[in-house]
Amino acid sequence: MSERIREIGTITKGSLIEGVEMHLAPSQSIEDVKAGKFVVIEGEKNDFFSMITDVRLDSTSPQILVHPPARDDLLMREVLAGTSAYATVMLRPMLMVAQEAVDEEMADIQPVKTVPSHFSGVYDASEEDVGQIFGSETLSGGTYFYLGTPLDMDTPVCINLDRFVERSNGIFGKTGTGKTFLTRLVLCGLVKQDKAVNFIFDMHSEYGWQATQEAGQGKGSFVKGLKQLFGSKIAIFTLDPESTRRRNVQADHEVEIFTDQIVVEDIAPLQDELRLNPTAIEAAYLVVTQYGKNWLEVLMTRGEDDLKGLAEELGAHPESLSALYRKLRRLVNFDFVTMGRSSEDIVSVMMDYVNRGTHIVLEFGRETSMLAYLLVSGMITRRIHELYVKQTEQYHASQDPADKPKHLVITIEEAHKFLNPRSAKQTIFGTIAREMRKYFVSLLIVDQRPSGIDDEVISQVGTRIVALLNDEKDIQSVLTGVSNSGGLRSVLASLDSKQQALVMGHAVPMPVVVRTRNYDEQFYRDMGVLSPDEQDRQAMQDQEDLFG
Ligand SMILES: Nc1ncnc2c1ncn2[C@@H]1O[C@H](COP(=O)(O)OP(=O)(O)OP(=O)(O)O)[C@@H](O)[C@H]1O
Ligand SMILES: [Mg+2]
Repeated sequence: MSERIREIGTITKGSLIEGVEMHLAPSQSIEDVKAGKFVVIEGEKNDFFSMITDVRLDSTSPQILVHPPARDDLLMREVLAGTSAYATVMLRPMLMVAQEAVDEEMADIQPVKTVPSHFSGVYDASEEDVGQIFGSETLSGGTYFYLGTPLDMDTPVCINLDRFVERSNGIFGKTGTGKTFLTRLVLCGLVKQDKAVNFIFDMHSEYGWQATQEAGQGKGSFVKGLKQLFGSKIAIFTLDPESTRRRNVQADHEVEIFTDQIVVEDIAPLQDELRLNPTAIEAAYLVVTQYGKNWLEVLMTRGEDDLKGLAEELGAHPESLSALYRKLRRLVNFDFVTMGRSSEDIVSVMMDYVNRGTHIVLEFGRETSMLAYLLVSGMITRRIHELYVKQTEQYHASQDPADKPKHLVITIEEAHKFLNPRSAKQTIFGTIAREMRKYFVSLLIVDQRPSGIDDEVISQVGTRIVALLNDEKDIQSVLTGVSNSGGLRSVLASLDSKQQALVMGHAVPMPVVVRTRNYDEQFYRDMGVLSPDEQDRQAMQDQEDLFG
């Protein structure tokens, strides 16, 4: 156990429920004390691993505040500072370890059940502390993945990937805070350590091939996508082959959707987006009863010149049928939708990849409308989920390890569109979030407006990685179901606007604020995917950058 070097203060009061208070040592500047920092309280018998949640200025006597020393009265200010005028720092102990056990390999890390005694010392955490709590990438099995570093430290904080894939997870934060970068990091971890097969609905085409980076961040304005890092382990599917080609990306597969593949269950979740009312959905079912798989094609062709006749034939309300026709026209107008019968079943093609362990990035190209995203991701996910349910049942019947489905993680952006209280009951995504990977499928939801997501779904989200959020409702919702969340509110609101996140939940033993790992050349090398040649070239480039 390395010595913890810097003592920053002394515990003066507190409670298990509200957290404890530290009197800041006079030698320390309050301005160096940051909310979210990871510190250790050395109690009498236990070490308490804690987070700084708030800071406050205090004084022993109101007199001092009535007559504060003049700005230039340095002597007086110095005399008062630290004694009569002092700073109090609020800490939230999260975990404790018995001191006699700390030298042993398997020190028993427990949730806090008590508070440190009066006048316990508080220290900056040491590297060993971070390693002891969050594990290390060098530990065997590839379980741990380095996600970032604690505030003011360089030691890696890792998430436990095995635990991460046990639940659905969420990455939240307002726009521009680094959600996409965080998602890319986590996905790289899952791919590299082979913890799950990923299916990414890539609305803005930023995961597969290179993506742009805002200017002013390091050099170059492009970062590598998964395909560039992991080659054949990743397959790129595209809904917009032309855009994919224009970006010089070689897609593995083009995705075309035929009208006979769209069923009413795929339309129902689009009600909000299409402004369809329930009677229109009923009319759709009437067309299906009569025409089966061809319902949409029939509706589109007859709708054009013989809508009345069709309504009569089906006994449907002409108004509803006409509304249905007009709204669904928007779907058929998408370039990736073709009228008629499909020649290949794109979902079984995708499943072949998934079963081989190949990760899929589905690029939307210029098809960036919410409607396209909801339609396609809903359709595909629903059918993949059906196949997973079948595979799981078969596995349960045979109990043959060879039948065990590969765990699948589905990444969706703008998750509140799928998982708002209304949609969560209708869409396949709500089902997956609620059934908790019973069928080996879980979600990675990326969203800037978590308050739009159904509470029931949020409370099932195992690990939450949260970048800055300003809206009180959003903060409240990401803390849904987090015990002891009191102090975390202020921590969340005080994160940097970029590349900082609070990580909490199933994959970490305690909530922790990290500066997100840089997604850069060093990271590419750590993923071990650049050839030795490329590595040499990169190293030379780094040298040049460093020395001009
Ligand atoms: N880990 C990181 N490494 C390098 N740069 C980062 C990292 N995280 C964030 N950035 C910088 O912050 C910018 C914004 O990040 P990102 O695009 O991930 O935000 P976002 O939350 O996904 O935004 P939006 O909601 O608009 O999609 C990036 O372009 C990049 O410059
Ligand atoms: Mg983004």
